[in-house]
Amino acid sequence: METEGMIQECGDFGQSALESRMKTRWAGRPVHFYKELDSTNLQAVRDAENGCGQGTLVAADMQTAGRGRRGRTWSSPAGVNAYFTLILRPEYAPDCTSMVTLVMALAVAEGIRASCGAAACIKWPNDIVVDGRKVCGILTEMSLEQGVIRHVVVGVGINVGLQNFSPEVAETALSLEQACGKRISRAVLVADVMKAFEDYYDDFEREPGFAGLQERYNGLLVNRGREVCVLDPKGEYRGVSRGINEKGRLLVELSDGSVNEVYAGEVSVRGIYGYVV
Ligand code: BTN
Repeated sequence: METEGMIQECGDFGQSALESRMKTRWAGRPVHFYKELDSTNLQAVRDAENGCGQGTLVAADMQTAGRGRRGRTWSSPAGVNAYFTLILRPEYAPDCTSMVTLVMALAVAEGIRASCGAAACIKWPNDIVVDGRKVCGILTEMSLEQGVIRHVVVGVGINVGLQNFSPEVAETALSLEQACGKRISRAVLVADVMKAFEDYYDDFEREPGFAGLQERYNGLLVNRGREVCVLDPKGEYRGVSRGINEKGRLLVELSDGSVNEVYAGEVSVRGIYGYVV
């Protein structure tokens, strides 16, 4: 499908660069690449409403209204980073959708490791960190009709080549090129993420739940076995992170030995001194 605004190439990132590197059967097929979009998530919703199928990948060189979690914006300058959103058309129950974000987090961490060798880890639920700093955020959005999923869009923003971050995130954010000290192809990176996602999501879709991926995810989880701070709107507390369970919830052991199952929702988890540790 050719849509107005879609263009062929944008440096190392573009329609044919992405298509030629895609190693998947369905994830990332077709690619809808744009030089500029309001938000790849918003475009993916428009595309899904227009009938685009599971696996369609919307990617952009820049976003003018990049969306982050909890109503935040996602800074999306041109020419440096990767912004992309995958359309899914699941048949499972809506409450499984929060786990799709975890599947994507796992895929991004492994895609980064495969494409540039950086030791990417996951900060539960869905931030990807390298050297204790955030290199990627994921925003999953679901459309429902009478309790049934119409479509899910999973948006990913990866800091690939950005050198100067805004003062608000300068302490906690990092780009992959800063971490690795070498140039990284955005197209190769996105193709590696799509490959890992497809492998994991095929299993997840067959049997929705996180039992099969729990061990792999926990192996990449930062702070496992360490004290963390749970920022719950009902009150902040501390405990030791014991990794996620088969529902994708973070197990936090309290000082009395009891274990809280933390559901992503409005809660976030920090190290006791800062963003990660
Ligand atoms: C977060 O707040 O950590 C999530 C950020 C998600 C940003 C990505 S960039 C591509 C996609 N399009 C958007 O508007 N947001 C997501």
